[in-house]
Amino acid sequence: MQIKPQAKYLKDYQAPSHEVTRLELTFDLHPTKTKVKAKAHYIANCGTTSLVLDGVGLTLLSINVNGQPFEHFECQEQHLQLSNLPNEFELEIETEISPKTNTSLEGLYLSGGAYCTQCEAEGFRKITYFLDRPDVLTIYTVTVIGEQSMPCLLSNGNQVESGQLDDGRHFAKWHDPFKKPSYLFALVAGDFDKLEDMFVTCSGRKVNLVLFVDKGNLAKAPHAMASLKRAMKWDESRFKLEYDLDIYMIVAVDFFNMGAMENKGLNVFNSACVLANQQTATDRDYHTIESIVGHEYFHNWTGNRVTCRDWFQLSLKEGLTVFRDQEFSSDLGSRGLNRIDAVMAMRTHQFAEDAGPMAHPIRPNKVIEMNNFYTVTVYNKGAEVIRMMHTLLGEENFQKGMQLYFERHDGQAVTCDDFVAAMQDASQTNLSQFKLWYEQVGTPTLTVATEFDDISATYTCTFTQKNAQNDPVQSPLHIPFAIELLDKNGHALALKVNGKTTSKIIDVTHPEQSITFEQIPEQPVAVLLEDFSAPVIVNYDYKLSELVHIIAHASSDYARWEATQQAFKLEVLEGVKQYNAHGTISLSCELVDTFNALLCKRQGDLALLAELIRVPSFDTLSSEFECIPVDALNTCIVQFELDIATRLANPLKQTYESCEEKGEMSHKAVSARALKNVCLYYLAMVCDEKILSWIQSQLDCDNMTLKLGALKAVFNAQLPCSEPSMAVFDSQWRHDLLVMDKWFALQATQKSDQAIANIKNLYEHPCFDKSNPNRVRALVGSFARGNAVQFHRLDGQGYRLLGDLLVELNAINPQNASRMLTPFMSWKRYDKARQKLMKEQLERLSKLTDLSGDLYEKVDKALN
Ligand code: TRP
Ligand code: ZN
Repeated sequence: MQIKPQAKYLKDYQAPSHEVTRLELTFDLHPTKTKVKAKAHYIANCGTTSLVLDGVGLTLLSINVNGQPFEHFECQEQHLQLSNLPNEFELEIETEISPKTNTSLEGLYLSGGAYCTQCEAEGFRKITYFLDRPDVLTIYTVTVIGEQSMPCLLSNGNQVESGQLDDGRHFAKWHDPFKKPSYLFALVAGDFDKLEDMFVTCSGRKVNLVLFVDKGNLAKAPHAMASLKRAMKWDESRFKLEYDLDIYMIVAVDFFNMGAMENKGLNVFNSACVLANQQTATDRDYHTIESIVGHEYFHNWTGNRVTCRDWFQLSLKEGLTVFRDQEFSSDLGSRGLNRIDAVMAMRTHQFAEDAGPMAHPIRPNKVIEMNNFYTVTVYNKGAEVIRMMHTLLGEENFQKGMQLYFERHDGQAVTCDDFVAAMQDASQTNLSQFKLWYEQVGTPTLTVATEFDDISATYTCTFTQKNAQNDPVQSPLHIPFAIELLDKNGHALALKVNGKTTSKIIDVTHPEQSITFEQIPEQPVAVLLEDFSAPVIVNYDYKLSELVHIIAHASSDYARWEATQQAFKLEVLEGVKQYNAHGTISLSCELVDTFNALLCKRQGDLALLAELIRVPSFDTLSSEFECIPVDALNTCIVQFELDIATRLANPLKQTYESCEEKGEMSHKAVSARALKNVCLYYLAMVCDEKILSWIQSQLDCDNMTLKLGALKAVFNAQLPCSEPSMAVFDSQWRHDLLVMDKWFALQATQKSDQAIANIKNLYEHPCFDKSNPNRVRALVGSFARGNAVQFHRLDGQGYRLLGDLLVELNAINPQNASRMLTPFMSWKRYDKARQKLMKEQLERLSKLTDLSGDLYEKVDKALN
């Protein structure tokens, strides 16, 4: 590292020096010599005569001011400094860039044969010199010139002109009537198949919908298109928000760092988040695609029409848009299951981030590399903060707040404070204490003590809240705490306080406070933090019998799932104790009996049942420990699974046989497949003829959910048919890289000692490519996150494998390298031997002479 990368602070925010009233861009596309002309009209905001533009890796060809060559400039590493400028002027800059050698997938690059851009957060500066910050909004007109081999030349907004050029090439000119910041700019050029459709908005306007996919992939496009139409309809009905342009385009590309990008009128998507058919995509994939298509669409209002003042405000658009896409999925599908997904992401990944060296508030106040802050904290915890406001205000007031937010800020770049102010003003609610959620760091804990008094028939809950140790705020938060009290039949008791019926949401606002519920005739079972009403850790000594009561009787799907999680947590704590005492590890009869009853009854949503009987992952369970007992935990998980398989083999078989589905996409059929796969996963461990025949027929069918479910089951149980089945899958799907990613991911979870050698061999597989983030995440990401046995080997080979890869990725794609580094961030949570080995890898990275800012920020935080 030559110069230490510099941090930026929220407190140093300054308004931009100039306003840009319009920007005309011309791209003369060439793989290694693309010429970019940027002609813009600047007006100084406070009489300054100098201008500092952002620019990285650009070759400057010429500068003109008001049509004349300009000499008062200095070209620096990451900036262009201009001086002696008039107050108002036309600046024309010509630069050259090389998309083909741009492996960072940021700026303008080649994905396969197609040109595409990724500008969020600070990629526009890799395209031309500009005020590359979200509070500089302007009107874009873009001309794209390309070869005839690229019939599609696209940019934001509406196409206003196109034609042939004398040199045999052609061009298209686009105009976006909405002001936007540079991070929402997009350009795509290539040869695609198109799926076209139409949406009529609530006010009767016709919008053309176009989905661009690689040649030959048209059959995999309809699901994303249908999802888009559902999203447009839903945003109109639930949020009263209508689309604003005449065309909406989505392009699928194979090389992409994240899921998708909400560029105005021209979304660019990772092909993995678009393409699906029954043969190639699982039911999960279908769900993910729908939610991401929705997410990007919802950004059109929350992100694009109203954008962020600065990048510290990222949660303004991301937290809110995640909340919106979660609501979209919940309104269209199962609310309970969607909540389970969201809470699982929080508990497993966000709590881990909160507990590690990268912990930050949902509105960070210090950033070195902005790409490092597209985190589960900003996105998912940010969404939980929005959800809490929704809980406190109620749907009606929340919607009033949204309307006021748009009334006040349409066309502006604003802050999280502006959003909360709109919510507060529209609902006449005081959110001043609540706002601390934007500043606090780490996961707060809430300790709950309960006392039933049979003489007065009262039930008292006492809450003690504590900020996380790493939280600079250290003052009490406003926590909406939902509670339910179940009687012995599992019915919720009416909640009465001071003679009045109260809502189930308690405003916990003090370090310590209690509430006494009246007319409680018998000792109830408390369902605490119902629906995960706040992103906190609850400490409460549940007895297994109480949890079993909730699992068996509660009406809320979420509460029942949550109780199974708590029950597994109790089992694991006991299992680890037994492991250390060389005792026998097994599940309590009470829990096994409960599962037995659930399987025999098979009531309600089968997909929920599938979730209830699944043993939580290593990552989820490890959050219960300050120092993660790797070997004990791995042993517990294996033992618990085997226990369920052997002790419940018969009900699992009966359940499997009772699941009816014919490959259709109804919620019922999807649920049946989910349950079938969980059953088969267990049954493979106690395989017999009949089970083997089920496995074989799932492997042979042409529904990817069932096929992959069976493959996972045989691979995990290491049945004799495992190796041949993997080989058959490989030869069947080599032509489809997205399907091969599933295969790579499965290979990476191999628990035997061959795992690492096997992964190294797979680096040479014809489908593998280190420069493609999807491949890298499928193989090495799945290994580091999903193979605790081999990743945490005591000889350090697992850590070395990741370290080696990070060294390579640092040079190819720093953004992806930085995301892949995450498993090392929690190195201090392991035993001394593993700490030392992980630290070695971090230190090795810190010594790289070409260490990227992305990795530097995280490695530095991890080590210091
Ligand atoms: N804003 C995008 C979203 O939430 C995600 C995004 C941010 C992104 N930076 C990116 C996507 C870089 C790809 C590459 O949908
Ligand atoms: Zn987003």
